[in-house]
Amino acid sequence: MDTHWTDPGRRHRRRRVWTGIVTTTSAARFEYLHLETQRHRRSHGCDAYTFADGPGLLTLATAELPVRILELGTAVGYTACILASATPSTTVDSVERDPVHVSLARENVRSANLQDRVTVHHGDFSAVITGLDGDYDLAFFDGLSPTPGVVEHLRALLKPGGVLVCANLALSHGAEKNSVGAEFAHDDRWAYVGSIEGGGTRAYRKIG
Ligand SMILES: C[S@@+](CC[C@H](N)C(=O)[O-])C[C@H]1O[C@@H](n2cnc3c(N)ncnc32)[C@H](O)[C@@H]1O
Repeated sequence: MDTHWTDPGRRHRRRRVWTGIVTTTSAARFEYLHLETQRHRRSHGCDAYTFADGPGLLTLATAELPVRILELGTAVGYTACILASATPSTTVDSVERDPVHVSLARENVRSANLQDRVTVHHGDFSAVITGLDGDYDLAFFDGLSPTPGVVEHLRALLKPGGVLVCANLALSHGAEKNSVGAEFAHDDRWAYVGSIEGGGTRAYRKIG
């Protein structure tokens, strides 16, 4: 980036353009993992539905300048690699219970040369997250459907002002759906940031 400009307005405009270019390039860089996940799901017959809006996720994450990110739902590593690209030094803890996915994800992270910044944890969300230290800048939930307990735990692991990006909200049903919806409606706990993936994934900032 050009650092010798003295006009702050001009520098700001330039930074926004720079961010846009990096976002597009970095998400496209991992398109092969998006395709690999789709191929894997067909052959494995599993629930590794890869996230449909990698560029949107990266744009959202980049705006937060995150130091630490927590991801629930690694599959074979597509979004973990994208999230690690938010800044040149962002680190990602990603959680996955399927041992085949864990092994493929670790291999993909190594191939992308991100092994120093992405850690794939093997286990169920509820078990692994109790052993993690908090103060994440951003959390991305991409499991099957968010439960009230997981949302509560993610909130505790976020630093004040941190952002929870929650996919698959539409997959929750009945009391669980109402309870997650009610939690995000607490405007003394969460502020709505916006949505990606055509509205299917919503982001909330932790208040307090
Ligand atoms: C929708 S896929 C994640 C896709 C990935 N983020 C991507 O975009 O490529 C969900 C993943 O979460 C894992 N998963 C679902 N429920 C889980 C749980 N309770 N604990 C750990 N992993 C879980 C599944 O095995 C699956 O690989």
